Amino acid sequence: MTLAVLAGGQSAEREVSLRSGAAVAAAFRAGGHQVFEFDPARDDLSVVDWHRFPVGRPSLGRTVTIDCVFIALHGAFGEDGQVQTLLESQGVPYTGSDSLASALAFSKWEAKRRFLDCGVATPNAVRISSSDPTGFAHSAADSIGYPLVVKPDRQGSSIGVTIVPSRAKLDEALSTCFRFDSVGLLEAAVPGDEWTVAVLDGEALPPIRIGTSRQFYDYTAKYSADDTRYQFEESATSLTNSLVELARSACRALGCSGIARVDIRLDAQGSPFVLEVNTIPGMTDHSLVPKAAERMGLSMTALCEWAIQSALH
Ligand code: DAL
Ligand code: MG
Repeated sequence: MTLAVLAGGQSAEREVSLRSGAAVAAAFRAGGHQVFEFDPARDDLSVVDWHRFPVGRPSLGRTVTIDCVFIALHGAFGEDGQVQTLLESQGVPYTGSDSLASALAFSKWEAKRRFLDCGVATPNAVRISSSDPTGFAHSAADSIGYPLVVKPDRQGSSIGVTIVPSRAKLDEALSTCFRFDSVGLLEAAVPGDEWTVAVLDGEALPPIRIGTSRQFYDYTAKYSADDTRYQFEESATSLTNSLVELARSACRALGCSGIARVDIRLDAQGSPFVLEVNTIPGMTDHSLVPKAAERMGLSMTALCEWAIQSALH
């Protein structure tokens, strides 16, 4: 097939996206596909003719049709529905969730409201904005209780996220958060293990438990630490069954399709709570979805080809 891979972009997750995109493009090439790579930071996608894409020397006038676009862009203009809207208007198939589900999932606050409407367990939270009156965040934080988590509403890879142990540390966490979005969340900290579940068109891959020596599974633990541990539960237990069910319900609540990854934490009693759904999960060699797929005997090439087939049906 003839495929396009979109990666890079201008979000704070640009570097991660470039790694995801390189891994996806290499996987397609290994599968014998023709791949064209685009970076929206450099290429104006609105003028690309996906149906008659020029190749070779211009004088020859040769063109190809791009069968499908694989979106490996993380963060704003990639994961938030904007690029999906553009590709929909250009009539070219693309991987992953549609523009509506993408926009919903990308806002942690809007997604949380949808989870609550659909009975999907998620930690208690309050929406905060950089324009709130002084003192609002402090009284909201007091009502949630410490420790709590401050996170930007629309951001990924744990960028701008702080675990706040006490009132004295709240202002610093708020200013970090508001560097990345003018809206954020104060979210109750859920102290138990962190798990993640990849969901492919509503079907879950084996849950992965994440172990890190850092305070939490932050940017360093995600992409560079050598001591981050990824542990698969070998057999179906009542915990893995409930993780799988919760992950599937979270994706259903948002209307996700293609590859998604649901991040979950357990509370002190061992009950699972959804933190968020990632509609364009990382595909780097450090990333979780390729690890879960491999566990099921699905190579990176097979996983990426699966995403294309899902997009084309
Ligand atoms: N936002 C990063 C790429 C992830 O979800 O894996
Ligand atoms: Mg995320």
